[in-house]
Amino acid sequence: MPVPELPVLDEAAVLAAVSPAEAIESVRQAFVRHHAGEWAMPAKIYLPSPPHGDFRAMPARGDGLALLKWVTSFPGNPERGLPTVTGVICLSDAGTGEPLMLLDARSVTALRTGAAAAVAAGALAREGASSVGLVGCGLHGLWTARCLAAAGYAAGVPHDPDAAAAERVAVELGWGAGTLAEALACDVVCCVTPGAVPVVEAGDLRPGLHLNMLGADGPGKAEATPAAVASCALFCDEWEQAAHGGELTGAVEAGLVARDRVTDLGAVLAGDAPGRPGPDAVTLFDSTGLAIQDLAVAGAAHRAWREGRVEAQTVRL
Ligand SMILES: NC(=O)c1ccc[n+]([C@@H]2O[C@H](COP(=O)([O-])OP(=O)(O)OC[C@H]3O[C@@H](n4cnc5c(N)ncnc54)[C@H](O)[C@@H]3O)[C@@H](O)[C@H]2O)c1
Repeated sequence: MPVPELPVLDEAAVLAAVSPAEAIESVRQAFVRHHAGEWAMPAKIYLPSPPHGDFRAMPARGDGLALLKWVTSFPGNPERGLPTVTGVICLSDAGTGEPLMLLDARSVTALRTGAAAAVAAGALAREGASSVGLVGCGLHGLWTARCLAAAGYAAGVPHDPDAAAAERVAVELGWGAGTLAEALACDVVCCVTPGAVPVVEAGDLRPGLHLNMLGADGPGKAEATPAAVASCALFCDEWEQAAHGGELTGAVEAGLVARDRVTDLGAVLAGDAPGRPGPDAVTLFDSTGLAIQDLAVAGAAHRAWREGRVEAQTVRL
């Protein structure tokens, strides 16, 4: 039997195939479909590679497609001139099992991570929220800012100890780089640091604030103190991941937060659970990163290729 050609989307092709606006809508739908039980997602598997970082195997299935993302988080890599996150996605036909496409995991991850931040802000930020504070302006910070800008947030304060990283975001989006305090004073604050030290303390919380906590996506990472986390109205992408390897972990382990205090974003988006308790509440969304988000963006990229909107390289396996 002849082996069919398999399309391969590199970073540039993924980003040409799926706009931030399309990623946001696809990811929003993925949360709703998963909440409804229509999309399947076994738990993410972590394979530590001490002392450098870890590998993650992330499968999901939905809408006739199945996906496996094999991706890394190696926090020391930038010092070696290498990216923190890299990997490959295999998208398959859920009906036949055949591989349909290989995709660069880094660009899909960046797009779906930023998209989730925009989806969470849309669902949970207070009415009239218009400014974005960005704490951590690396790859995922940049894409978070791009997605929030695509969602209509016109003003922002990027902050990063690496002034050049903050300036890059500021120049691209017409925002103004600032101090940590200035970033934390914005309506929607997105934290996208490596999670080595907390950047949000209980004293930083103001009525009406929405926090997207994106950097703590594995064991041992945190961007807010447990006391700060415990003072917020809490939301997460997936409880098991958030409680064991996310921003909520410290507060859960300290006995400050239990399952009944945390709402899944999918339930809010589906209208099955309340979102923000009131205009003065402080809401916190813990993003740990889900394979359904990857499936949403990879599915959109595959659609773009099928419709001839993007060119792919090809391989025969
Ligand atoms: N939630 C998710 O779905 C998801 C997805 C991908 C990556 N991540 C995580 O997000 C984090 C960032 O990833 P990345 O690829 O953007 O890394 P990166 O190395 O490209 O960027 C990190 C940035 O944070 C800055 N930084 C470090 N300490 C800081 C501090 N105290 N205050 C402000 N900025 C600080 C660094 O200078 C750098 O610019 C990692 O922990 C990664 O594992 C989460």
